Amino acid sequence: MSKVNLDTQVLGLIGYPLGHSISPLIHNYALEYFDLNFVYLAFDLAPEKLKAGINGFRALNVKGVNVTIPHKREVLSLLDEVDDIAQKIGAVNTIVNQQGQLKGYNTDVTGFRRMIEDDGGFSIPNKSALIIGAGGASRAVGTALCEGGIKEIYLVNRTLKKAEKLASFWQDNYPQVSVKAGELNKDFYVPLLGEIDLVVDTTPVGMEPNIEQPPVIATEKFHPGMLVVDLVYNPAQTTILKAAKKQGAETINGLPMLLYQAAEAFKMWTGCEPEVEHWYRLLEKETDMR
Ligand code: ATR
Repeated sequence: MSKVNLDTQVLGLIGYPLGHSISPLIHNYALEYFDLNFVYLAFDLAPEKLKAGINGFRALNVKGVNVTIPHKREVLSLLDEVDDIAQKIGAVNTIVNQQGQLKGYNTDVTGFRRMIEDDGGFSIPNKSALIIGAGGASRAVGTALCEGGIKEIYLVNRTLKKAEKLASFWQDNYPQVSVKAGELNKDFYVPLLGEIDLVVDTTPVGMEPNIEQPPVIATEKFHPGMLVVDLVYNPAQTTILKAAKKQGAETINGLPMLLYQAAEAFKMWTGCEPEVEHWYRLLEKETDMR
């Protein structure tokens, strides 16, 4: 880090509880790499303090903030402006301070798309996808696929009502896509799997420390030519990805998405675009990831 002085600007992350986020590590590394006079700090911000925190960023001229669970939705109403995609999915993961005005963006959407296209070699138009889970991450994934020109989405969730609500939201916003919701039940999804090109698990199933937890859906019908994505990246190989590999499917975990969304946020704040390869090497050295 260049020496902290009168001109040092502040970036940061808000979430609650923050646990062990890699964001401070990767952003401070990139700030040093580009020799930028910023610091990136982690702010453990309880929900009842969110409004005060956001007003504090405005007052103190904090340049940019990443937003994580549980604030991605609630923060929208506290900002001066929200870009179209973030508005559409109702979630902000990046705030940019533009001359005192706080504007919200969602770089998870482009991060997911870049991951499946660049790392998965997947071309979205005219394909069929099965998405598991109907929470915040699922909203970003489905929106990325609809924006990218997917043909069909099947959305399954443990709580059917949530899947139905999200599916009808996508259907209303993207009438050209066929969207169907169903129960997290073999009878619903197994007959579909033969025709599915992309499976995305957005649930936390299999995440550290529950690494032995069996896959959230039956994997026997996974097949070569199918891309299976688990947004969990710790461990790198969850049980669903191991099973998918066994069936000859391509697999990716969620780490590239995390790094791409971070790179895009960093570029919005500083104008410099980090190389994610540098971050992979950093994570290998500094953490037990990858
Ligand atoms: P995120 O922002 O990461 O998407 P979330 O909004 O809490 O987190 O959503 C988590 C999703 O994973 C939900 O769809 C949840 O299902 P419910 O809507 O029924 O709660 C799903 N999920 C969590 N644990 C699960 C489990 N053990 N089996 C199946 N689905 C699970």
